Parts: sequence; structure tokens; C-alpha cells
Amino acid sequence: MKIDVLTLFPDMFQALDHSIVGRARALGQVDMTFVNFRDFSTNKHHKVDDYPYGGGAGMLLTPQPIFDAFDSLEARKPRIILTTPTGKPFNQQMAEEWAKEEHLIFLCGHYEGFDQRIHDELATDEVSIGDFVLTGGELATMVMIDATVRLLPDVLGDQASHEDDSFSTGLLEYPHYTRPADFRGLTVPDVLLSGNHARIETWRREQSLERTYRRRPDLLEQIELTDHDKKFLQS
Ligand code: ADE
Repeated sequence: MKIDVLTLFPDMFQALDHSIVGRARALGQVDMTFVNFRDFSTNKHHKVDDYPYGGGAGMLLTPQPIFDAFDSLEARKPRIILTTPTGKPFNQQMAEEWAKEEHLIFLCGHYEGFDQRIHDELATDEVSIGDFVLTGGELATMVMIDATVRLLPDVLGDQASHEDDSFSTGLLEYPHYTRPADFRGLTVPDVLLSGNHARIETWRREQSLERTYRRRPDLLEQIELTDHDKKFLQS
């Protein structure tokens, strides 16, 4: 996969040199380029923002540097994702779709946002990472890149490790325990030590259901529940 990021702060993306995304890059599973669109400004002071027509607070990113930076990219049939708090909320399903793409381009917003012509002409997707306002789109872009790259084939060692992820099943993930079985008197649930795989599966499903019911009841309305699930939730 190829990922291009248009940003005023390419150095912020050093966070993606590390951990699983860093390893995916080192192995060539994903190729990322960070382009500072200020370099494309034809203004003699390299200005990239201006006052909004009609007045109002704050400055807007102007079209010229972003359109020119965009034109410099080798764009086959990319998905072009514009980061904005007014976008569609990002979720696991979007990460799964994007992980199938050959080429993603992220546009990182700043100040009060983008001139509307950037939204209209360049973006294929306008996306928010939550109902809060960040100082810029860089952190949002890193969040979305991280969530997408971990889903690429062979990036996580164990394929199953994301098939059970929270949200992939439509439910929040069940609790996990590792050794020791007794830590300072805090013990691991007996069922997990039982070796009975059917009982363990049932326990995990019920834990997922209970956690989802308490923390994210909205998710339960979006999935098909089995008769056993329904009975458990009524108990
Ligand atoms: N830019 C500022 N706030 C944002 C948010 N919540 N999501 C995506 N981009 C943003």
C-alpha cells in the first residue's frame, strides 16, 4: 500500500517510525511519504492561509498550495481523505475498507479548516476521529493510518489477532489474562484454566455481550444476536 500525507508538520509523523507500523514500513508492506504543502506555496512568504470571505474568526487553508502539492503526487486511483471535525466518524469498518486500497492520500487540516473548493474537488472522504476539535489533522491522520495499516495482510503476526478485535465482531472484546494465575491474590477466572474450549468460547461471548451492554449499548442494536445472546442479556 502507498500512503501520501499532505501536511504542514511532516516531522510529527515520526511517531509512525515505531512499533508495528514502523516494522511494516521497514518490511516494505506500506510506503509512506509526507509532503509539506507549504513548499508548494507560490506566495513569497510561503503563506498557506488567508481570511475567510464574509468575515468570521480564524484563517483558512487556501487552495493553491494544496492543489499544487496534490498534482505533484503520482495518483493512480487513490482514496483522498480529508481530516475535519465535520467529517463522517471514523470506524473499524472504514479501516477495513481502506486496508484493501492500493493508495491513500490524507489531507491534514489546520486553522479553521480548508477552503470549501478543497473539500469539493479533492476529497473522496471527509472524516473525523471523534466529537472533539484537535489543533490539526495530523494526530487524526496518524490514528487512521495506524488502524488501517495493522489490518494489511501479514502486518500482525497472527491473522486471528484482529479477527476478534473489538468492533470487528460488532461487540467490544472480552477481557484477557496472562500468567501468573494468581498475582497478589488477584486470580484469573477458573474457566480460562479449565481447558474446556466450548466453555471458554461461551464465557468470552458473554463477557463481550456484558461489556458492550454496559459501555456501548448502541452497538447491540447494530448486530444480529443469537437466541443464547438474547437470553444471556435478559438474565
Ligand atoms: N481536525 C480537528 N479536529 C479533528 C477531528 N476530530 N477529527 C479529524 N480531524 C480533525
